[in-house]
Order: sequence, then C-alpha cells, then structure tokens
Amino acid sequence: MQDSERNYRYPAEHYTSRRVIELENEKLWPKVWLIAARTEEVRNPGDFVTFDIAGESILIVRTTQGEVKAYYNVCQHRGRRLKDGSGNTGDSIHCAFHGWRYSINDGSLIKVVYEEEWQTDPGYCRSDIKLPQLRIDFWAGWIWVSMDPDIQPLAQYLAPVPRFLDKFELQETRFAWYKTIVIPCNWKVVLDAFNEGYHVTATHSQLMRFGELPYGSKGFGRHAYFYNWEAPAAAAAVSGEPGTTKPTVIGLMDGNASFDLRKILAEAEHEREETLKALGSVHTVNAAQRLLTEVPKEAGPMEVLAAFRRFHREEAEAAGVKWPTSLSEDDIRTAGIDWHIFPNTIALPSIDGALWYRSRPNGDDPASCIFDIWWIQRFAPGKEPPLRRDFYSNPDQFKGQNFFLEQDVNNLIAVQRGARSRGYKSGRTNPRQELAVRNFHRVLDVYLYGDGPDEATLRPDHIIEPER
Ligand code: FES
Ligand SMILES: [Fe+2]
Repeated sequence: MQDSERNYRYPAEHYTSRRVIELENEKLWPKVWLIAARTEEVRNPGDFVTFDIAGESILIVRTTQGEVKAYYNVCQHRGRRLKDGSGNTGDSIHCAFHGWRYSINDGSLIKVVYEEEWQTDPGYCRSDIKLPQLRIDFWAGWIWVSMDPDIQPLAQYLAPVPRFLDKFELQETRFAWYKTIVIPCNWKVVLDAFNEGYHVTATHSQLMRFGELPYGSKGFGRHAYFYNWEAPAAAAAVSGEPGTTKPTVIGLMDGNASFDLRKILAEAEHEREETLKALGSVHTVNAAQRLLTEVPKEAGPMEVLAAFRRFHREEAEAAGVKWPTSLSEDDIRTAGIDWHIFPNTIALPSIDGALWYRSRPNGDDPASCIFDIWWIQRFAPGKEPPLRRDFYSNPDQFKGQNFFLEQDVNNLIAVQRGARSRGYKSGRTNPRQELAVRNFHRVLDVYLYGDGPDEATLRPDHIIEPER
C-alpha cells in the first residue's frame, strides 16, 4: 500500500454536493459496467424491463430470437421516453406520442404514421433511424450494460470477482425476494455501509453472543472484499494441520469448555432466518437443528462444521435443489463474506444463493438514493416463487420488513445528516477492516479526477491489504 493510500481520507462533500452528482453523471456512470436487471426478468420474447441511471433510461428487451438487447429508452422522433417499468411489448416498441414503432430485435424503425409526408424531408431515411444500443453482457444471472462503446469486456472489468464467485453458480439462482427502498442519503452512503463488517459489533450487537468476528479486507483494483477467514490458511484449518489460522468463532472456544458450537449454529441459523431472511434457507435451519441430535456434544469444532455442511447438502438435495457442481470447502472460504463490485453493487455469496445490493442516485438529489436489495436463491426446478418487486418510498414504510437490514438503514439516514455538518470534514477508514470502503473512494477519485497513470491502479493486480 502506498503512503497516499494509507492516509486516504474522503471528503464529506462527496455526499452532499450537487456538483459531485453532476461529475458522477459525466465521468462515472457512462464509463462502467452496471447491473441493469436479471435475465429472469425478461424470460419470454417481448418481455422488457427499464433501468434508470444518471438521467438515462435503458430498455432491456428479450427479442423474438431469444437474445437480450439493451436500447436507450428514447423515441428518435421527438424524444419521448418509450417505456416505464416492466411488461411485455410484443414484437415491437410503440411510442405513445405519435405512434412510431420500433423492432425489438434490432431497434429499427418499422412504422411511421403518415410516412408519405416525410418524403419531402431530405434528411429522412427510415432505414437510418434506429434505437441506439448499449453494450450488454451477462454474468451470475445478471444483465450488465455499459454506455461506453469502448469499455473493456465485462469479464475483464469484473476481474478478479468471477474467479472467487463463479463456483457458486449464481446464474442458477432466482429472486426469492426483491425490495427497493428510497433512502434519504447519498448512494455512496449505502455502498460504504455494506462494504465493511466493522459496524457489526455496534450495529448488529445481537450477534455478539455468537462470538466476535473481526474482519480482514482487501482491494483488487476496482473491486474489494472483506472476509473472516484468513483465506490462504482456510484449507489447512479445515484439515486441522498445526500452525494455521482458525476461524475466529473457533478461536473463542479455546479454553471455554461451555462453548457448544452445535447450539450456537442452531440458534444463529434460526435467528438469521427470522431477522434477515437471506444467506441461508430452510435447509440450513434444518441442518443446524440436526447437529443437536446427530452430532455428539464432545465433537470438535471442525467436526461440527463438516457435519453442518453435510446435513445442509442432504437437506437441499432431498428437496430437489441442485448443489453447486464443483464448489469446494476452499472455494467457500476463499470467497470471503462480501464483495464490492465497482461502482454500485455489493454481493454476499452463500451456498444457498447471494444477498445482493445495488444503490444509485435518485435523480440529481445528492441526499436521496434508490436502494435495491435482492436475495437470489437456489430452488428446486418448478419451486421458484413468482417474481414480486416490493417498493418502499421511504424507510418508514420498510419498518417491520427485515429486522436486520433496518438496523443498517437507521445508520444510512444518520450518516447523511452527519455529512452535512460543519463539524465533519472527511471520512477515515479502519486500516484492517475497512479497506474496501477506502478502495471504493480511491477508485471513485480515479474516475472523477484521475488521469492516465492512475488507470493502472484499477487493474486487479493492484492490491490494497492490511499491513502485516
Ligand atoms: S416522440 Fe415518439 S413518435 Fe413522436
Ligand atoms: Fe449491517
């Protein structure tokens, strides 16, 4: 880590200024890959969904040939927005203003009302008029788009994230639930809050009875993650080889004879399902319950963890859920807890699926954002729930929906209030646990203010990690 990175401070103004929103609209959003939607949202020909970002609206459509395309959602006649929300548009996109019609397959203009009158316009040639397309690609079941025609391929942009998460086969998952909340805070406040585990001790203090979890964190170019196993030691820790790092929860048990990991897991799983409703399932709840009756109290922690995994798989497969084909224990541990995929999504992988967050500005108000929370889960074929998008126009409406996430949401509003204070100039980050937050703002600076040489620090081999 360079000195400038170690002392990195990010200005409070980044959360409050309209100028920064404008800068982001010009230099950030049009230059990155973004999650626009999920492939399951456009399953059938003619299905569409819109994605609004930075004053733009993007129309994602399934063509009659089964491809997915991304168009700028704007009529080429006089600029009316073509579609709102989601639905099925048949085999063409109709403009409600003067009735022009475009093909869903290539965006070509296929119908013009009173077209003969246009023949006197020397600049008019119907075959030249098309809905402009965006770059589009797919990963983990998501549809990614970019406004930059020259952007690097998605796989290259996302590196090294797929290397850590591909084995989870997240393209096999479906929305278990989908919640969107309008929050009175800057979009980056949300990213920051879910980009570290440092807040868990104070914000989710109910978890402390299950043991403390000081997290490590690490940046790889644009992206970053935090984890609670020392990744290289993970495989050895499971095999019980001496001299390896143990998971923290196990460390707590040393010299504590009353610590029963079976009970901890059973209670923690039950509570997770009650309060978060993600990162596990009925299968993990059942598996943890089975530990109490099928694993002896004297069993060592590694034995308990191995049984938990075995029972989980048995429970899932008995219900018809496909276990990821080649996901190993080492894959699970090296994947870490929580990935920041620059700029605006966070992914928490688990065997049953992933909890995924996306945040974006709400118009040009620096103190308002749209926060999507997605739990995508593995289901038995035919058991996928119908897609329902729940929308909450303010955090009060979200009350009672998810105890755990409400604890986080409370911080978001309060942080935005603090960011306006004369008594606060800049944010600082814990050098072990909050490097993902630091990396986010560092990378953002490169996009907003950087020039040529900084580009190298966006490559995945530019590592930011705790001092040893
Ligand atoms: S603006 Fe779309 S047809 Fe006129
Ligand atoms: Fe949290």
